[in-house]
Amino acid sequence: MFLLAIESSCDETAAAVIEDGTRILSSIVASQTDVHSKYGGVVPELASRAHLESIVPVVDEALEQANVEFADIEAVAVTYGPGLVGSLLVGVSFAKAITFVNKKPLVAVNHLEGHLLSSIIEYGVPEFPYITLVVSGGHSNIYLVKGIGDYQLLGFTVDDAAGEAFDKVAKMLGLGYPGGPLIDKAAANGREGAVEFPRPYLRDKKYCFSFSGLKTAVLTYLKKENLYDSKTKLPVDGKITEQIQCDIARNFQDAVVDVLVDKTISAAIEYGCGTITIAGGVACNSRLRKEMKRLSSEKNIKVLYPSLPYCIDNAAMIGIAGYYRYIKGERADMTLNAVARVKL
Ligand code: KG4
Ligand code: ZN
Repeated sequence: MFLLAIESSCDETAAAVIEDGTRILSSIVASQTDVHSKYGGVVPELASRAHLESIVPVVDEALEQANVEFADIEAVAVTYGPGLVGSLLVGVSFAKAITFVNKKPLVAVNHLEGHLLSSIIEYGVPEFPYITLVVSGGHSNIYLVKGIGDYQLLGFTVDDAAGEAFDKVAKMLGLGYPGGPLIDKAAANGREGAVEFPRPYLRDKKYCFSFSGLKTAVLTYLKKENLYDSKTKLPVDGKITEQIQCDIARNFQDAVVDVLVDKTISAAIEYGCGTITIAGGVACNSRLRKEMKRLSSEKNIKVLYPSLPYCIDNAAMIGIAGYYRYIKGERADMTLNAVARVKL
């Protein structure tokens, strides 16, 4: 059984073909990083237009690479939210059109469920219950996964998402966009403890996160050292050295990772889970991957993280989530709409 999956919730246009809910025959992603990088963040209007230009070639390429005709596709799964409404609308409208014309079933998928199930692509279904940390540009959530489709949200961010904090701090340091990978790279040459940043724990909301204070701590440090120009909102030219950038990147990243790892492992212990999976763009972070594995193994907890193309936004994960909804009999109709904010 072949399923075509489509994802366009933010700044990646993606399509994938999956067979029997397990084998990824193709996973094509057209990134818009070049379109948005000069603005230092995603510009929603430009994102929608770029999706419009990419959606047909991306879907064509996914079918071609999978060596499958559209006629062979049994069902189409599409992300309907959460995300940028204009971006989502491109995927949703396209999926509605092709399923209506070709009389094929349509399945609506929550983007977060895609991230949640992304580790299944390479590792199969873990033993339930397990813990998943979804860390992306828009979310920092800890879920207890009791079964496919049975998720309990244990914690979330009360302000900035982890990826958002990475992107904002990278901008303050003049590293560029998207910030996560650039901070990760700079941090490799940073000195541990060169700058002290707080670890925000929110003791009253055990599994929730708050990264906005940490971001402010970086800004305060830069201002105190006269390295930041509040007018241009950029580092002072010539004053911020590469070593300072690396030191701040290293210690900011350490602070974020310490909190993410500590809370995720605590949740796994409290709920008796033998497995943790990590998902979302920030799951690409080298230190997060290393530390989660190191500290979990001390507690006999297994950590599964997808390879990098399945951490960032992709359609293969939407195909996995769509497949399970499809076999349960879920169908969307032509009233399906894009929803910017929707819980799982
Ligand atoms: O999941 P994703 O591709 O899109 C959303 O659904 O948001 O995540 C994008 C986020 C961005 O904030 C990006 O800076 C962050 O993931 N990211 C990273 C790394 N690679 C991507 N953050 C930290 N370290 C990385 N290596
Ligand atoms: Zn995402």
